[in-house]
Amino acid sequence: MAKIIVVGSSSVDLVVTAARRPGAGETVLGEGFVTVPGGKGANQAVAAARLGAEVTMIGRVGDDLYGQEILNNFKRNKVSIEYVEPVTHLASGTAHIVLAEGDNSIVVVPAANNEVTPAYLAKSKDAFREADILLIQQEIPEDTVAYVGELCREMQLPLLLNPAPARPLTEEMIANATYLTPNEHEAKVLFPGLSLSEALRRYPNKLFITEGSRGVRFFDGEQEVLVPSYKVDAVDTTGAGDTFNAAFAVALAEGKPIRECVRFANRAASLSVTKFGAQGGMPIRREVEEQMQDEEARHIE
Ligand code: RIB
Ligand code: NA
Repeated sequence: MAKIIVVGSSSVDLVVTAARRPGAGETVLGEGFVTVPGGKGANQAVAAARLGAEVTMIGRVGDDLYGQEILNNFKRNKVSIEYVEPVTHLASGTAHIVLAEGDNSIVVVPAANNEVTPAYLAKSKDAFREADILLIQQEIPEDTVAYVGELCREMQLPLLLNPAPARPLTEEMIANATYLTPNEHEAKVLFPGLSLSEALRRYPNKLFITEGSRGVRFFDGEQEVLVPSYKVDAVDTTGAGDTFNAAFAVALAEGKPIRECVRFANRAASLSVTKFGAQGGMPIRREVEEQMQDEEARHIE
């Protein structure tokens, strides 16, 4: 069983559906409102656990009802919360999402997630020793991501950095990551002077640019490879990237060849978008494997 550590955010997603999103100064009437579990860190932890990994979350929640819901959701999904300590003086993180015209727009308020600090991480270092891979994103402070990068290098623990949401990274941070998985927008922020192809060539088998419905691109040392994504009727793309990253980490931790890892992750992500909510639709292992077997069977026919 792959052992995965996730360092990151946990939030409640407050999701409004509307025919269209309002412009500045404008009010529109919405159609529905629900709250569901979210936050990139929590989403990735839950996705990895559903895919059969043993997952330890390192994060913070507020000492409030949302915090309780977040912890219960981790428990339901068999994610270890030994290293998720409530913060007494802050609210839980929230993400304010509008789903309109087939796409989402999101304002994230990190709140307690800002307390995932280097000092907090230092206390959780024990968890690092037995892990196969560490998964981190950017809804927590920048210096924490840098600190975790150094720890992983020292401890020779493979690090998958999902640089979302976008912010620039130092050369050192990029060097400390074993795998980097920006989308196109995030890749442009990371490598401002370079075309995406130039960036890929600079980081063979390390940089994986996710291009949504097109697929995932990387440079394998000899050529640029596009691993296509699977066509599905998307209901809600929120959390697709998180499912991709979690599944990629699981497959990498299991030692599968890189291209196979990307295929597995694309499959998992394609299933996740068929249901509402960031974590709705995140598949269990068997669902992904059945789909992959169907695909192979079709190739043989
Ligand atoms: O990646 C999707 C997540 O990003 C949502 O669950 C929301 O919490 C936002 O932070
Ligand atoms: Na979903």
